[in-house]
Amino acid sequence: TYLSRLSIALSTATAPEPDETTEAALPDRGISGSAESVGDIPDLSYLSGAREDHLGVAVCTIDGEITSAGTEHAFPVQSISKAFAYGAAIDLHGMDYVDSVVDEEPTGEEFNALSIDRHSKKPKNPLVNIGAIRTHAMLGPTQEERTQRLRDVLDAAAGRPLELHRETRDEELTIADRNLALAYMLRAAGSMTEDASEVVGGYIEGCAVLTTVTDLSVMAATLASGGTNPLTGEKVFSRVAARQVLSVMLTCGMYDNAGDWISDVGLPAKSGVGGGIIAALPSRFGLASYAPQLDLHGNSVRGTYFFERLSADFALHML
Ligand code: DON
Repeated sequence: TYLSRLSIALSTATAPEPDETTEAALPDRGISGSAESVGDIPDLSYLSGAREDHLGVAVCTIDGEITSAGTEHAFPVQSISKAFAYGAAIDLHGMDYVDSVVDEEPTGEEFNALSIDRHSKKPKNPLVNIGAIRTHAMLGPTQEERTQRLRDVLDAAAGRPLELHRETRDEELTIADRNLALAYMLRAAGSMTEDASEVVGGYIEGCAVLTTVTDLSVMAATLASGGTNPLTGEKVFSRVAARQVLSVMLTCGMYDNAGDWISDVGLPAKSGVGGGIIAALPSRFGLASYAPQLDLHGNSVRGTYFFERLSADFALHML
């Protein structure tokens, strides 16, 4: 079957092994700004030791069989956490309530744009910053409870306790003006009542959790299986929540590259500026890549190439 061919391909993949003697951290490179995205968005992945030669890929079947190649370097999960926060919010409040607060429409805009619907005042989807900030506010009554719930759901999806990278969190808190602005716009629109800096604080902590590419493949497999972690057997999400998370990943997970992605790769996916990408083939397996160089959308360059190749070579496109 193509799954065993895929496993063989991954286990024999010639991903470059990280050279542990090299201290070559990535330079601080920005994502280009535009009229929508005011100013450059600094990528902080170098803080956790990301290097240009880092490349890792992994697949985890819904039976828990893992195959990986390349580095197991741990890097910040960043925006990939948004998908899991959304699933947690749905299971906490029900689909109807969550849908009444956060929309599910692709934005075609950058991930940190002011993507709020003019009429309904809802953020357009939960996978861009403004929607993720609003979703985060739903995770509990206090900053501590919200942050803990998000950390718990990330741990449960990965099947192990994930570490927080404090340096990334603390640095991001010092440059949080844009996320704070988005949170204040939600409040100004009457869409959120919680304290802006508390919500942004918890959202940023979720972004700074460290994952390896293998963790991400298990997290993706948890979604692919309908919400059950294939390693621990824990029911992390209801089937409804897992399906909804994957639906929104399909249309919104790759930001303003979502159209190209669905044409070329054809799988629901979510990227993070830490360099990770997850994708899922529902009822089959979860996939993940890690390579820290980003394109102008904030998506991993080599990760995108990897998924395009993989999808073509193994006919993974769902359509
Ligand atoms: O809030 C931010 O902008 C970052 N912590 C996360 C952005 C991100 O990962 C976008 N993804 N590609």
